[in-house]
Amino acid sequence: MKKVRIGVLGCASIAKRLVIPAICSLNDKFKIVGIASRTKDKADDFASLFQTESFVGYDNLLDRADIEAVYVPLPTGLHEEWITKALEAGKHVIVEKSFAIDFESANKMIELARSKKLLLMENFMFRHHSQHKYIWQKIINNDLGQIRLFRSQFGFPPLDENNFRYDKILGGGSLLDAGAYTVNASLWFMGKEQEVSSSVLYFGDKNVDVYGNASLINSKGIVSQLSFGFDNFYQCNYEFWSSKGRLIVPKAFTPKPNETTNILFEKQDEIEKIEISPDNQFVNLFNDLYKNIVSNKYDKYFDDILVQSRILSDIRINAIKIQL
Ligand SMILES: NC(=O)c1ccc[n+]([C@@H]2O[C@H](COP(=O)([O-])OP(=O)(O)OC[C@H]3O[C@@H](n4cnc5c(N)ncnc54)[C@H](OP(=O)(O)O)[C@@H]3O)[C@@H](O)[C@H]2O)c1
Repeated sequence: MKKVRIGVLGCASIAKRLVIPAICSLNDKFKIVGIASRTKDKADDFASLFQTESFVGYDNLLDRADIEAVYVPLPTGLHEEWITKALEAGKHVIVEKSFAIDFESANKMIELARSKKLLLMENFMFRHHSQHKYIWQKIINNDLGQIRLFRSQFGFPPLDENNFRYDKILGGGSLLDAGAYTVNASLWFMGKEQEVSSSVLYFGDKNVDVYGNASLINSKGIVSQLSFGFDNFYQCNYEFWSSKGRLIVPKAFTPKPNETTNILFEKQDEIEKIEISPDNQFVNLFNDLYKNIVSNKYDKYFDDILVQSRILSDIRINAIKIQL
């Protein structure tokens, strides 16, 4: 079986904890050729941990002709620069969310990938967890009846003050970080034909949005209520309120590979609790990515990326902005 030769740009925490171990576990499909950092010590640490080559400076990794694909776990504000360079160097790109700082930037990168016939994928790994298959089956079987409302929340307590998520230039803010998941879930379940009907963003002293809310409406008139933040009690869920009940996924976006998750289905006088076995959404995502690279379905994710970026931009542009 052909192995895809992949490189990593940046020694990010998410790369170390979850993504590189997932890629390494698929060693019949991927070979990690190297890991690049801005600093030698970090590059060497990561490279020795994952037994690969270290590169100082992202350009030096991109110069390697034998690397076919790169994983980019950099802050969103750096994506346009490094995705453009990676595509110009002829590499497929899998990039962390959020893909772009705004719709215009997303469009530029997609156009370049299209012209180069190279794959671009935004890492929304949660879609690859089996708990959502259960939800889709309930929807397809009409167990919910008519859906009246979709709601999703993703937020967590304050981060270290030096975290890039508080830096506007690096693409910080809760909308592009946690809010992006809630938008992505709504687009997945309620359809891509959606408009933003209202939004509110609350800005802290570092001039980035630290929490917010948005309301979307789909082509059938069904509303999604989305809430997100960096200054919140931890929540990571979505739910449907329908004519037959309320279906809740309490740990929607971040289940750990060894974690059993639960789904709750509340009906009149009855609560059904469904246990879902642990699943590794990162491994599942890279399996999917592999299939698309080897079968050259390079444009598979373009439309999803553009719709997601458009909604995020519209939420920001139209938001009532409140300074805290
Ligand atoms: N899919 C998921 O489940 C998931 C979960 C968490 C985060 N994420 C996403 O993954 C990305 C990384 O998040 P993280 O929490 O892992 O971040 P992190 O540990 O802070 O890593 C960011 C990396 O970016 C590089 N970088 C380059 N220029 C930088 C700058 N000026 N300031 C800060 N870092 C810079 C650094 O690598 P070097 O120093 O080695 O060059 C750093 O290690 C973000 O886009 C985030 O939204 C995704």
